[in-house]
Amino acid sequence: MSVIALDQKAKVARPVKETAEARALRETSPGQWFPYAAPQTQERDTRENAFSFRGISRKFGDKTVLDNIDLDVPAGQFIAVIGKSGCGKSTLLRLLTGLDKPTSGTLTVNKGTEGENRTRIMFQEPRLLPWAKIAKNVEVGLTGIAKGKEAREKSLAILDEVGLADRAEEWPSVLSGGQRQRVALARALVAHPYILALDEPLGALDALTRIEMQHLLESIWQQQAFTAVLVTHDVAEAVALADRVIVIDHGRIALDLDIPLERPRRHGSPELARLEGKILDTLFGGTD
Ligand SMILES: Nc1ncnc2c1ncn2[C@@H]1O[C@H](COP(=O)(O)OP(=O)(O)OP(=O)(O)O)[C@@H](O)[C@H]1O
Ligand SMILES: [Mg+2]
Repeated sequence: MSVIALDQKAKVARPVKETAEARALRETSPGQWFPYAAPQTQERDTRENAFSFRGISRKFGDKTVLDNIDLDVPAGQFIAVIGKSGCGKSTLLRLLTGLDKPTSGTLTVNKGTEGENRTRIMFQEPRLLPWAKIAKNVEVGLTGIAKGKEAREKSLAILDEVGLADRAEEWPSVLSGGQRQRVALARALVAHPYILALDEPLGALDALTRIEMQHLLESIWQQQAFTAVLVTHDVAEAVALADRVIVIDHGRIALDLDIPLERPRRHGSPELARLEGKILDTLFGGTD
């Protein structure tokens, strides 16, 4: 069955396939959901998709890591991807960002309005160039897009947004781990990507720095309106940041859950805890 769910960010209704978890959420949260079933033939919303996976599989030898994945992500959505270690999360991001090719299926990635493939990826390690100063490291994200004075101006502007304007002429080695990750975020965002893929970008940070980075990421995402695909092991982080969480298990999407909560969200609120419970049930087998 399909239902029409209210997308809080875009303020539009859109049809989604109703999972058992979604049905339970609808029944326990009247008001967040439109109380009628959509006809099967109803078209998806008219907004463009940032990307679509159609029957995507990825095998390594005889091991099927991703198995016939269908996934449509509307432009501007913040989606989190959760799953046990080795379930294929990084593989999914590598396919999305063109670093790997599917074994079968069709992957359509929208290249954004400027016709360039502005998809960027950020990893758990900042991967900065140790021999280049901070501003120069950020300019790496503009390779082929801008250079010289223009690149420097863009680099300084985004460094300002991540709170590091005064560190532009320093070496990466003198920054803290959290600051280096902010430089990596600036480098990923300096070209204003259409899609930003994040592979556990906050995984190595301490708890307080991590919460600060979550706020920073959320506020820049709200300003720049890119499509964010966040792989994380942290269920609390996923429900705090994302519009939608998918859980991957045995190569398939085991749960596709909308997070229809207003922002800013409060860590530890009962609504977030309830959604976290649903995700944990899927991961560890507490659901029907
Ligand atoms: N290039 C490769 N060649 C062979 N096997 C691979 C390759 N890349 C990934 N795999 C396998 O695919 C599976 C999924 O790997 P992937 O890195 O996507 O997992 P993950 O969900 O990101 O795990 P983690 O949470 O530990 O980062 C693993 O079993 C891994 O060994
Ligand atoms: Mg991984």
